[in-house]
Amino acid sequence: MMQNKVTEKYTEILMELEDFRKKDFSFQSGRILGSMCSEPHPIARDAYNKFLDTNLGDPGLFPGTKQIERQYISFVQSLLHAPPSSAGHIVSGGTEGNITAMWLAKQLSGNKEIIIPASAHFSFQKIASLMDMKLKPIPLTKSYTMDVTHVKRKLQTKTAAVIGIAGSTDLGTIDPIEEIADLCHDEHIFLHVDAAFGGYIIPFLKNTGYKLPQFDFLSEGVSSLSIDAHKMGYAAIPLGVVVFREKQWLDEISVPSQCISSKKQAGILGTRSGGPVAAAYAVSRYLGIEGYQQVVARCMETTTYAAGQICSLGLSLITEPVLNVIAVRLKNPLKVERALDSEGWKVNIIDHLSSIRIVCMPQITKEIIDEFIPVLQKVCQKVGEL
Ligand SMILES: Cc1ncc(COP(=O)(O)O)c(C=O)c1O
Repeated sequence: MMQNKVTEKYTEILMELEDFRKKDFSFQSGRILGSMCSEPHPIARDAYNKFLDTNLGDPGLFPGTKQIERQYISFVQSLLHAPPSSAGHIVSGGTEGNITAMWLAKQLSGNKEIIIPASAHFSFQKIASLMDMKLKPIPLTKSYTMDVTHVKRKLQTKTAAVIGIAGSTDLGTIDPIEEIADLCHDEHIFLHVDAAFGGYIIPFLKNTGYKLPQFDFLSEGVSSLSIDAHKMGYAAIPLGVVVFREKQWLDEISVPSQCISSKKQAGILGTRSGGPVAAAYAVSRYLGIEGYQQVVARCMETTTYAAGQICSLGLSLITEPVLNVIAVRLKNPLKVERALDSEGWKVNIIDHLSSIRIVCMPQITKEIIDEFIPVLQKVCQKVGEL
């Protein structure tokens, strides 16, 4: 009797959850065009479920899961040409990666000023507020990348860190990391590269012959770099990695820990699931470098195709896409975004560039672009953009 009652309730709750879920947009539908997250690879789902009850905050209880974490971090380190002296730390994503890196930079330097490109992600606003730090924005060049001549002028004894972006949130642009790294190396200043988006694309595109700038630990002046597996890594949310050039820097962001299986704990989080780590590891093993190359090459093909179709409607782009990000210039992006929304398509707005953003993630195919273009045309005609 009791068993039956529980079963009924169990089913009822699952049905209730289904109803909530039906209200969501899904990556699988291909209708989410503005997000930098993607439909996880099927193996990521299976791996995630297997490790649902693991806690990497208490690693002595889960030595197997800890081993997966170490192996996955090694994969990321080698992808980013990190030296043997380096260490990686799992984070929930780009925001936590940036926060952790700035926590370290503040600890190492005792300073509070962060030099950021004007295109930096809004997580740096959180960093300034959380850690009482001050942001010093640098203007962008005509190609929407950090203007290095201004960086030189802004470097001071109060500087805690300089930020360079490899794959900006708005446009997917890549800052001149090599030049910035040379500057920081000479001045002994911490350089953090925010490669939350580009970290999982640039290395693979470079392998397939795309001419993209150097952005990783091959430049000696790069101190840390963060990368997200839940963006172009085809893995599940939440998963990123922040890699530090020197292992011993982890001590600066560690505290002694009681009542868990390790004597000290690094980073911001305590309890954290092994699920997303297992998922990212599984995808990296399943796809390998070649698999990722194919995925990113397809994303770039779709991007070029979509950009061409958009321009042939008579619309223009803010800049030629560098990665798989397209920003469409509009007089009233909010009106277009709303009208697209009512047709069932989700794009994102970039207010300060008066544009909408489309990101050609792995689940976005040319066929989906072919469905979208006539809707974009209709909507733009209706609101007076065409
Ligand atoms: C360049 C960059 N950095 C950081 C972030 C923040 O990542 P998350 O939302 O995973 O915390 C984003 C998100 O889009 C990003 O584009």
